[in-house]
Amino acid sequence: MATNITWHPGLTHDERSKFRGQGGLTIWLTGLSASGKSTIATALEQHLLHNSLAAYRLDGDNIRFGLNKDLGFSEKDRNENIRRIAEVSKLFADSTTISITSFISPYRADRDQARALHDKDNIPFIEVYVDVPVEVAEQRDPKGLYKKARAGLIPEFTGISAPYEEPINPEIHLHSDTTSVEEAVQIIVDYLAEKGYIK
Ligand code: PPS
Repeated sequence: MATNITWHPGLTHDERSKFRGQGGLTIWLTGLSASGKSTIATALEQHLLHNSLAAYRLDGDNIRFGLNKDLGFSEKDRNENIRRIAEVSKLFADSTTISITSFISPYRADRDQARALHDKDNIPFIEVYVDVPVEVAEQRDPKGLYKKARAGLIPEFTGISAPYEEPINPEIHLHSDTTSVEEAVQIIVDYLAEKGYIK
């Protein structure tokens, strides 16, 4: 970090939420490639927007075209990928948007760090584990990446040649092989309502 910098205090998230009439939060989807994260995130964003709530989706593949185009898939680069996304998501949430992230985020420590960043500013962080057996993800293989990984064409592919550390105590645990996208969205929305984050 640079030296000779000073933090300028401004409105807190709670104060901003009161003005806006909506609190922000981060919904952090994690799971294997082809687990359904992006599909669920897109449907959730649409549902929230239809209900006049500010929502915005940050997606793994998409962010790697811009903000994180300098990063690959080594452990170090994934750590940095998630660190940056956690910061960006917190900024969206702090602005009273419901920020929905869909990144594999395979390392528990990175997800915990993202949570701690939100906790520090009293911004809710909801970890959603989009759980699917790797065999099912491999069968789906919408982008043909598992096939390439098995053929040794993609190094460090999550679930095949790179680790995925399952969440231990996520707020929401979805089984995407037995739960439809609509049901998954409903489970998340019900959770938000039950906790009083949305009406
Ligand atoms: S991570 O692990 O959180 O940094 O990954 P993420 O930013 O979510 O990017 C995952 C998408 O990148 C594609 N891809 C790979 N995934 C896993 N391992 C390797 N080696 C890899 N190479 C490319 C893939 O399309 C992932 O998208 P999803 O939507 O998860 O399938």
